[in-house]
Amino acid sequence: MAENLMDKVVSLCKRRGFIFQSSDIYGGLANTWDYGPYGVELKNNVKRSWWKSVVYERNDIFGMDAAILMHPKVWEASGHLKGFTDLLVDCKKCRKRFRADQVADKCPECGGGFTEARAFNLMLKTFLGPVEDVNSISYLRPETAQGIFVNFSNILDSKHPKLPFGLAQIGKSFRNEITPGNFTFRTREFEQMEVEYFVHPNDAEKSLEEWIDYRFNWYLALGLNKNNLRKRPHGKDELAHYALACTDIEYNFPFGWSELEGIANRTDFDLKQHERVSGKELRYLDEATKEKVLPYIIEPSGGVDRSILAFLADAYIEEKVKDDIRVVLKLHKDLAPTKVAVLPLLRNRPEIVELAKSIAADLKKSIITVYDDTGAIGKLYRRQDEVGTLLCVTVDVQSLEDKQVTVRERDSMQQERISIDRLKEYLQGRF
Ligand code: GAP
Repeated sequence: MAENLMDKVVSLCKRRGFIFQSSDIYGGLANTWDYGPYGVELKNNVKRSWWKSVVYERNDIFGMDAAILMHPKVWEASGHLKGFTDLLVDCKKCRKRFRADQVADKCPECGGGFTEARAFNLMLKTFLGPVEDVNSISYLRPETAQGIFVNFSNILDSKHPKLPFGLAQIGKSFRNEITPGNFTFRTREFEQMEVEYFVHPNDAEKSLEEWIDYRFNWYLALGLNKNNLRKRPHGKDELAHYALACTDIEYNFPFGWSELEGIANRTDFDLKQHERVSGKELRYLDEATKEKVLPYIIEPSGGVDRSILAFLADAYIEEKVKDDIRVVLKLHKDLAPTKVAVLPLLRNRPEIVELAKSIAADLKKSIITVYDDTGAIGKLYRRQDEVGTLLCVTVDVQSLEDKQVTVRERDSMQQERISIDRLKEYLQGRF
């Protein structure tokens, strides 16, 4: 049943245009995915909701957008060159490669024995400029966080914030994962949403707890079933090289409980390291006490793609309607890619089509609206249900007479007649 749900979500994503295999016409590039017309809207909505929650609704966080390519010294200072490794083993018989922590002593594929474990750096390497030598090596960032740390003094000088304050960023990160998989859950190119929250060291523990709750509640507010969400503190042996403490927010994916987001206390590790390697002071001057502080950093770090996968799996519902099964994506209203669909009941009646098109054109100015007349009404409703459209507006013969339309709600399928001249106001009141 659990695996079944995953297959159904993957199939709906392809069928309806949420997520496609990358480079499909060439046989696909394994574990790499492209977001289609509905996928990109959903993705933008997830990112917008995050940004609203961590930037616009607070007074203490600013946004930023750093470059993916950074000075190679960044990765020396951050510890990623040395420490961002997984131990891998190769099967001596079938030559398959595994993460050492994910297998016992025999290959799960063929029962063969393994080579000695060796460290494998997860950063994707490239060369900048025409000459490919050690001096032109560059890395695609494995986390967006470092782009924030190296701008710490720029922010102090330009915004003059008081502790505690934070910086928020959304962007692509890259990791040469040894075992990617489970659709968009673990990929080599993915998008992160990260806050780096600078606090006085004495306040770090309290701030970590606050951020765990704040982020947990964001997922709940966007409709994830609370029985599918949990907090899991890390054991000492699984902490990243920079972290003193970390709690994961986990989701009960169709393939089991797995990490959606990690909220870590990175201490002063990063600023201290960048001070040491760059030779630039990265301290905060407390005007009141004249004390120079190296702040601790609390970091809520979530994945855009993983959140989307959780939202999709959670929203996927099959309902029996009369003798049929209705597939509906019960996405939260802020996440639904399309809010309204305008549908003519009879597509061969020009007056109905014309009225429906003019209603759609008017709504489009203020509400994300689509117009669709490419099928019979039953089929059109089914299509909109599967992509999570909140409300369908149907124009019928009677509409030409009484200047009213039928508004159908996605989840309850309840219908109401609304007069066209107050339709926009009515719809806006529904989201
Ligand atoms: N700056 C801290 C950091 O990067 P992380 O736990 O390695 O911490 C944070 O990553 C989040 O980024 C994860 O919780 C996950 O949502 C997402 N993420 C990490 N690796 C990923 C991958 N290979 N594919 C998809 N998402 C990934």
